[in-house]
Amino acid sequence: MKILDGKELSKKIRKKLSSEVELLKNKTSKVPNLKVVLVGDDPASEIYVRSKERVAKKIGIDSELIKFGNKINENELIAEIEKLNNDENVNAILVQLPLPEGYDTWKILERISPEKDVDRFHPYNLGLTLLNRTDIHACTPAGIIELIDEYSIDLEGKNACVIGRSFIVGKPISALFTNRNATVTLCHSKTKNIREIIKNSDVVVAAIGIPGFVKPEDVKNGSILIDVGINYIDKENEVKLLCSEDEIKKYYKKGYAITGDISVKAFKKSSYFTPVPGGIGPMTVVMLMKNTVELFKLQNRIYE
Ligand code: GUN
Repeated sequence: MKILDGKELSKKIRKKLSSEVELLKNKTSKVPNLKVVLVGDDPASEIYVRSKERVAKKIGIDSELIKFGNKINENELIAEIEKLNNDENVNAILVQLPLPEGYDTWKILERISPEKDVDRFHPYNLGLTLLNRTDIHACTPAGIIELIDEYSIDLEGKNACVIGRSFIVGKPISALFTNRNATVTLCHSKTKNIREIIKNSDVVVAAIGIPGFVKPEDVKNGSILIDVGINYIDKENEVKLLCSEDEIKKYYKKGYAITGDISVKAFKKSSYFTPVPGGIGPMTVVMLMKNTVELFKLQNRIYE
């Protein structure tokens, strides 16, 4: 059982990106610019966008959080996105999801210019990922691939099971695994015999948001377990987290702890696993920065 250490790898990538941004600054007198749009007041989204801001600053990316309350209507939001599309100083646009009730998510996401779509959720960009026609992918799936590559794990011929069919994780990671010659089963709430499918899988990606959904008895010995879940557990729920005592204390101090979709006991049967926190979470954030830098380079016609 080896940890796929997303915290460590994300630091390494962050340092590389800092140097790259410095070089780009010398070359172009500009730095990559990211706009993060937050609508409403979802507390989890607030936490995510703040961590994105923090990492962008460390790297030297010019990042701005644009906050709208619940008052802005769909057409006004689209007009704001159009302004960012047309602003040549803006390289990357992200609309934090989920949007509050009443907004048509696809109507909004389709209006982000595909060239500035840093999340790669625009149907055009999701299509490129599906067809293996781009190197820039949605942040969480890209982070999973980066981590797997860091540990030289070869997916060819492996049976992979992806739990959760969202366009944020499940669908794009299924495409990326398929493009690497894995055999993928994409499971969801209507899947029959899900436990059997997990048992037959060499790789399991859990992205459903149910704490401890994958149990130790479900998994095959020696499997690779990728936990994308970020679930907030309150103090009353006793959960053994696989992170340092300091981290546990830090989270409990805030009134909650964080746990994944895979039981910590299941990790004991794995060959590799990603911890929560410290696995896929920090990789997602750093891949957002990497995508921002890549979009900047494309828009400034810098090819190496
Ligand atoms: N909400 C959860 N994950 C993501 C993500 O990767 N991008 C955006 N924009 N919103 C999210």
